[in-house]
Amino acid sequence: MRVGILTGGGDCPGLNAVIRAVTRKGIQEGDAIVGILHGWKGMITGEHEELTLRAVTGLLHKGGTILHTSRTNPFMEEGGAEKVKKTFGYLGLDALVIVGGEDTLGVALKLYEMGLPVVGVPKTIDNDLSGTDYTFGFDTAVTIATEAIDRLHTTAESHDRVMVVEVMGRHTGWIAVHSGLAGGADLILIPERPFHLDEVADVIIKRHSRGKNFSIVVVAEGARLDSDDEGSLAVQSEEVDAFGHVRLGGIGQFLGKEIEDRTGFETRVTVLGHVQRGGSPTAHDRILATRFGVKAHDLVHEGKFGLMTALVDGRIDSVTLKDAVAELKTVDSELYSIAEIFFG
Ligand code: F6P
Repeated sequence: MRVGILTGGGDCPGLNAVIRAVTRKGIQEGDAIVGILHGWKGMITGEHEELTLRAVTGLLHKGGTILHTSRTNPFMEEGGAEKVKKTFGYLGLDALVIVGGEDTLGVALKLYEMGLPVVGVPKTIDNDLSGTDYTFGFDTAVTIATEAIDRLHTTAESHDRVMVVEVMGRHTGWIAVHSGLAGGADLILIPERPFHLDEVADVIIKRHSRGKNFSIVVVAEGARLDSDDEGSLAVQSEEVDAFGHVRLGGIGQFLGKEIEDRTGFETRVTVLGHVQRGGSPTAHDRILATRFGVKAHDLVHEGKFGLMTALVDGRIDSVTLKDAVAELKTVDSELYSIAEIFFG
């Protein structure tokens, strides 16, 4: 078989491990593996490279994606979907493995419904895809954020300061809750729970009154004030990408100033940003990405298209792309309740 593979959307640690797994397994079984460059853009322009064993050597520990990525949406271009189908034929492909998050896999689903044989692999540091317990990349992002919180703890304590840490998480607070729990945050603010500034200040003041002169507040970039405060998302730029997303950022700075004004405690803000997406994947993500890559190749050979590989109750399985992108997986309230026990 001739199997194409592309990586789309924001990059994340573990992408190269999937590319390596699909290529190694494919070549072992006599396939030719074609790397499509720059995500869906490559399926429009035809930019590609044949993936040999040599091309995927030494990739396992490397962050980013050797295939490059983009947030191109073929359905936003005149005749884009037709161009994708044409490229598929021109490259002589039998199947396409799509490694992406909700946007990239949403495109995969539409193309599958138009007759393209695709298999999806769930990737995003945000961990917000349905149908899978975890996406790869998430564990690495949580590990990086937790280490940052640990480091901020010591300096917060020395200076008797409040430290606000802004982490990624456009629609959901998975990174915030996991890193906040692991790092012992005193308050965690997430998109799923719009918040009141008075309540935030109260938590910090109460903590101070029981002798704790420093606080760590973790906030997801997509967190917002409760509507009572007429809040809206903090954005760096109103400009939208091909999937209609604005560039988030700024909630941390806003919160830091409000906390200082309302509590009188000196406050500093750290925005972790793309540091969370860069560098080497954790062992957990390398293994998960490898298992997903092998499963994706199996699905291709079994002719099971329109599916996404998934981790279900610890086992590698598959779900339909339709179910995976139907709705975002938000932070479950049970987990947030556990984090709440340690607030203040
Ligand atoms: O979707 C993953 C993600 O890292 C989000 O958490 C974040 O909002 C977004 O990508 C940032 O995108 P970009 O790299 O295009 O600025």
